[in-house]
Amino acid sequence: MDKIKITGGKVLNGEIYISGAKNAALPLICASLLTDETVTLTNMPILSDIRAMNALLVSIGTQIDEFDDFVDGHPTKTYSYRTKEFSSLIAPYDYVRKMRASYYVLGPILAREGHVELSLPGGCAIGARPMDIHLAALEQMGARIEIKNGYVHADVDGRLKGAHIIFRFASVGATCNILMAAALAEGTTIIENAAKEPEIGDLVDLLNDMGAKISGKDTSVLTIEGVDKLHGARHKVIADRIEAGSYAVAAAITRGRIELINARAANLQTPLNILRNAGVLIQEKENSIVVDAVGRTLTGQDIMTDVYPGFPTDLQAQFLALMLTAEGAAMVTETIFENRFMHIPELLRMGANINVHGHASAIVRGVSKLYGAPVMATDLRASFALILAGLAAEGETIVSRVYHLDRGYERLEEKLRGVGADIERIKETD
Ligand code: UD1
Repeated sequence: MDKIKITGGKVLNGEIYISGAKNAALPLICASLLTDETVTLTNMPILSDIRAMNALLVSIGTQIDEFDDFVDGHPTKTYSYRTKEFSSLIAPYDYVRKMRASYYVLGPILAREGHVELSLPGGCAIGARPMDIHLAALEQMGARIEIKNGYVHADVDGRLKGAHIIFRFASVGATCNILMAAALAEGTTIIENAAKEPEIGDLVDLLNDMGAKISGKDTSVLTIEGVDKLHGARHKVIADRIEAGSYAVAAAITRGRIELINARAANLQTPLNILRNAGVLIQEKENSIVVDAVGRTLTGQDIMTDVYPGFPTDLQAQFLALMLTAEGAAMVTETIFENRFMHIPELLRMGANINVHGHASAIVRGVSKLYGAPVMATDLRASFALILAGLAAEGETIVSRVYHLDRGYERLEEKLRGVGADIERIKETD
């Protein structure tokens, strides 16, 4: 298995192009299942999670055409998806266990075909992650749900029916799934306490371009007037705010300066404010964000994750790593997932000073130095936090389990080398 080797201590300086958002692309791909016409997605990131979702769609009958493309001079992919008819209505365990977001096929297939079988994803490194909110909402829309042999079997006679749904929690996944299901339902669906993440707004835009009637975009109340049929569309995926936030920390933790090309400051206000309060200069431009920490002394800032527009849980690990290089203490609290501090034991091996209180809170105290070490993480964002710590550390850090990073960070070494990092991938065969 590949590893990444970093020799720390370089001050990063330059530009990084921010790719299309993985977490927007995954539901957008599944929205294509709602029509028998072609849906084309541009500015798609080149990531193993996208390949995994594509493989799942091919296995159920989707024809996919892939094109190499350029957006603003940067390499990207364009994919065309066409599901004239389904060859299978089953999303098997082998796909779902590799990528939880496979559950996005649930709403669209059920709405179009009246039947779907989806392997339940089960827990993962960061928590139990049940699907009760998705399933309860589909039941409210008239679906019969049964769990048998690890699979959700969902059926509906005729079409799903519009319903007034109040989520007990503003789940990103459930909001996307129910939006897609409701787009083809009979009658009007109202989702209250919907998640407001920008990736959901991107899905609303595509669905409306396909002929759906959805209002309330970017608010916690979404109204979906069901239609009989949706048609094809072409759509450009929004920039990845989590990738942008991760590279913002790369600039800050090395006391460097990086311009994040294509990043949208509007989608990153809470993390950018934390950086500002810590002492980093942030310049918001129309099509980029400049993160400048050259010569700055940073001070610790408390962070509490929350649903959007609160601080994203997907940036918690990276910002926690940054606080190790700040003066004073920072309290980091995770409220979205129950087990998302797996990076802490690895950071301790690099000389970090962190006290964990229960499952949800950690006190991070700045240290004068971090030291390189062999480390590994059990999820995507935690792995990036270790890369960040390695960039700031003295000496060599080897990060293993690189497949986590390949799920969500496109051309990671190339992007970091482009701003002056000493980083390379060590190819290894098992
Ligand atoms: C999505 C993102 C993930 C991000 C998360 C929170 C994708 C592919 N993944 O994950 O990167 O960290 O949003 O911003 O976009 N929950 C339930 N029951 C449910 C659904 C969720 O209890 O039916 C709980 C989960 O266990 C978790 C919390 O709600 O503790 C948040 O989950 P949710 O917002 O659904 O996140 P995901 O869609 O899984």
